[in-house]
Amino acid sequence: MVPSVGALILVFLSFLILSTLVNFFHKMWWVPTRVKRIMTRQGIKGPPYHFIHGNTKEIAAMKEQANITRFTEISHDIYPRIQPHFFTWFQLYGWEKLSGLVWSQAELVITEPDIIREIANNHRATFARPDLGSYNKKILGDGLVTSSGKKWASQRKLANHVFNAMVASVELMLNRWKKMDSNEVEMNAEFRMLAAEVISRTAFGSNYLQGKEVFEMLKEMGTIAGRNYYNPRHLGLLGKIVKSNDDLKSDELQKRIHNVIIKTVKEREKTMGHEDADNTDFLGQLLLSKNNIINSQGYQLSTQDIIDECKTFYVSGDGTTSLLLSWAVLLLSIYTEWQERAREEVFQIFGKETQPHFEGLAKLKIIGMIIHETLRLYPPGIAIIRKNEREVKLGNLIVPANIILHVPVLALHHDYDIWGGDAHLFKPERFSQGVSNATKNNPSAYMPFGFGPRNCVGSNFATNTAKVTLAMMLQHYRFSPSPNYVHLPVHITMLVPKNGVQVMLHALK
Ligand code: HEM
Repeated sequence: MVPSVGALILVFLSFLILSTLVNFFHKMWWVPTRVKRIMTRQGIKGPPYHFIHGNTKEIAAMKEQANITRFTEISHDIYPRIQPHFFTWFQLYGWEKLSGLVWSQAELVITEPDIIREIANNHRATFARPDLGSYNKKILGDGLVTSSGKKWASQRKLANHVFNAMVASVELMLNRWKKMDSNEVEMNAEFRMLAAEVISRTAFGSNYLQGKEVFEMLKEMGTIAGRNYYNPRHLGLLGKIVKSNDDLKSDELQKRIHNVIIKTVKEREKTMGHEDADNTDFLGQLLLSKNNIINSQGYQLSTQDIIDECKTFYVSGDGTTSLLLSWAVLLLSIYTEWQERAREEVFQIFGKETQPHFEGLAKLKIIGMIIHETLRLYPPGIAIIRKNEREVKLGNLIVPANIILHVPVLALHHDYDIWGGDAHLFKPERFSQGVSNATKNNPSAYMPFGFGPRNCVGSNFATNTAKVTLAMMLQHYRFSPSPNYVHLPVHITMLVPKNGVQVMLHALK
């Protein structure tokens, strides 16, 4: 007897429902329970796993509680409020290794220097950046931060090449600081504009206005990604079928950013062949690489790659550098003796009026120490995350595949055992003999720019931008904290001052 069409559809539907259920239980119950068992057997402790949510609900509750607690005075002891869940769990389960589960995703927190070194060296290319989630993917596409393999190697080479030529345009950008003579200034907004301008011009030519539009849209996308980080909606099929307002908004923003960048790319392509065309900026190099050859790494960039790459550089360069500058200026406004020492150094090297020159930057030792200490206390990226694609042995530990390996940079930067009892104090003198000396040759004690082959490609660029900006500010202004400043560092993708950094500027006579 031939089965009827209705019966076939019924069998098919039953099969579909059954396999969805099996898949769901495999992901939400079997995998986390198994991982938890393997970890526990090896002595790794952590909070218990709750079906579907893992530890997400308690993390969200602890974060909410931490965010409503106000500092009564400016304190740099910020880890308990930025990552209250890990802070609590370290006390309950131990500091050395800890396993937690965010939703069904197991996360292993690692603080042991030897294991961090193993992950950083990544000899067997086992550790990749994990999938950043749908919103972040919309922000970054498949640019340098997220890409891998041959494509990553080719992009990385290109990026290094361009950074060396940037400092001259930073000087130009900073001219507007000379005219700044108001009372209270919100530094984070100022530095965002400055960093945006620097990146737009140095990376994409002088098309700053289009750059500004992209920055604003990416900032909005970042806020959406931040508020959805612990949103369990994204777990299952439901999140893919029913779109929330944030999904719709981020789709629209993604499309608009795509259109602005593609317009910039098309305009540049039209002028590229001209005799007087200047293609030395980042976009020019990307387009040359796309048009000319399958480059030396054996990968040819596509138009989509160019768009993703442009987005990556907007995102990576803008927020981070402006945060470094904002926290540094806050600290210098509080610790006026360091402000004076830094100013003296600038006067010695550049004089009172002359613009900083590239050769002088390396001589700014005090400012270099201040930048290191700022990045130690307030690193914009509070953790480094990797994922092991297959089972690995780390030290004595067997780690099953697909575990998030979480290196808690902020916690390590504030650790008493590494930095001493004054770990929470601003003491740039720690770095007077260099980073290795300050960390007693423990590279995992200080990682503001990440580690290993995937560390930050913009670290020199960011440090030089910060040096030039601080030097020029110090040449022209004295600064003190505004009575309106409220100390509220929060983690929204990066470590940000929630209400900005208000500072009083006083022009030097
Ligand atoms: C103070 C400023 C900055 C800080 C603290 C910072 C920090 C970081 C960190 C922690 C990483 C991840 C490293 C890892 O996973 O091991 C990273 C990667 C990256 N950063 Fe930065 N960054 C800064 C400025 C910049 C600037 C100015 C640019 C470019 C304009 C930039 C471009 C990138 C890129 C493209 C990556 C990915 C590199 C790769 O995967 O190969 N960063 N950065």
